[in-house]
Amino acid sequence: MREKIEQLKKNIEQFKADTLQQLEEFRVRTLGKKGELTAIFEEFKNVAPEQKKEFGRLLNEVKNLILEKLKSQKESFDAVETVSGIADKTLPANADSIGSRHPISLAKNEILEIFARLGFTVADGPEIEDDWHVFSALNFPPDHPARDMQDTFFIEQNPDILLRTHTSSIQVRVMEKQKPPIRVVCPGRVFRNEAISARAHCIFHQVEGLYIDKNVSFADMKQTLLYFAREMFGENTKIRLRPSFFPFTEPSAEMDVSCKICGGKGCNICKHTGWLEVLGCGIVDPNVLEASGINSKEYTGFAFGMGIERLAMLKWQIKDLRLYFENDVRFLEQFQSVI
Ligand code: PHE
Repeated sequence: MREKIEQLKKNIEQFKADTLQQLEEFRVRTLGKKGELTAIFEEFKNVAPEQKKEFGRLLNEVKNLILEKLKSQKESFDAVETVSGIADKTLPANADSIGSRHPISLAKNEILEIFARLGFTVADGPEIEDDWHVFSALNFPPDHPARDMQDTFFIEQNPDILLRTHTSSIQVRVMEKQKPPIRVVCPGRVFRNEAISARAHCIFHQVEGLYIDKNVSFADMKQTLLYFAREMFGENTKIRLRPSFFPFTEPSAEMDVSCKICGGKGCNICKHTGWLEVLGCGIVDPNVLEASGINSKEYTGFAFGMGIERLAMLKWQIKDLRLYFENDVRFLEQFQSVI
């Protein structure tokens, strides 16, 4: 222990920081929770009682040495700053780099804001879910392929527990708790057992929406989604609805928006169709309303769901979905915004 103390003392005496960061690292390395001095203090507990006094003194000496070193080095940095003129208060300040929001957050915030203008509130729910909220309450038959391990991540010990594959599970939770009228959007992270590629990932993000009230019709849905598309992609955007299938909606549709890159004439991005698929939607199946305790004779509603990655790809022409997850600053820096 004596040797360790001597060695540490030597290191401290020799230490000289070139940058403030090095000085901070030095502080953490010596005094931090896992620091060298902290470790020796731990050993001190086992020192024989008659030696405690001597070692105690030695340790305190080292500690003071570190504190002095930190102080003197810090002062020398301050002095350098003054000499080189950085402390001249009349100079314009260096703009701090404040980072930027992730494109997924930007797109999500924009989507939520658009729906907020139509009176939709935001609801949240757990990522680890049970079968009921992800599948059964949403009218998935017992043998539906989405319930397969190939598509869904299950917890091994208990097949009732899984990672949600869509945020429709939040909508079920809202319907169980709240009486209509309901107008919510549910953003969140979802998980599907997919091979990772430029177009697919096993983790991605969705915003799903639900509107339930008396006399809600397909036309209400269409108008709501048209408003959304125009706000998100520009006022000249057109939409088209193609028939589709989801267990929880009937009728169901897939919505395309006119390609904003080529204005509908056809280009690489829209694969020369002039249209881009952006979301799934439909009139909530009465079975789904009933499963959550809502009277389907009295109420109707529509629902929709979209992948945020995909929308952001279309909005900013991002070609590879993996870029979202790599956290490469050169990519992230391109998304400056205050939202
Ligand atoms: N839950 C669907 C999905 O994850 C999207 C959707 C939501 C479709 C609501 C229709 C209505 O793909």
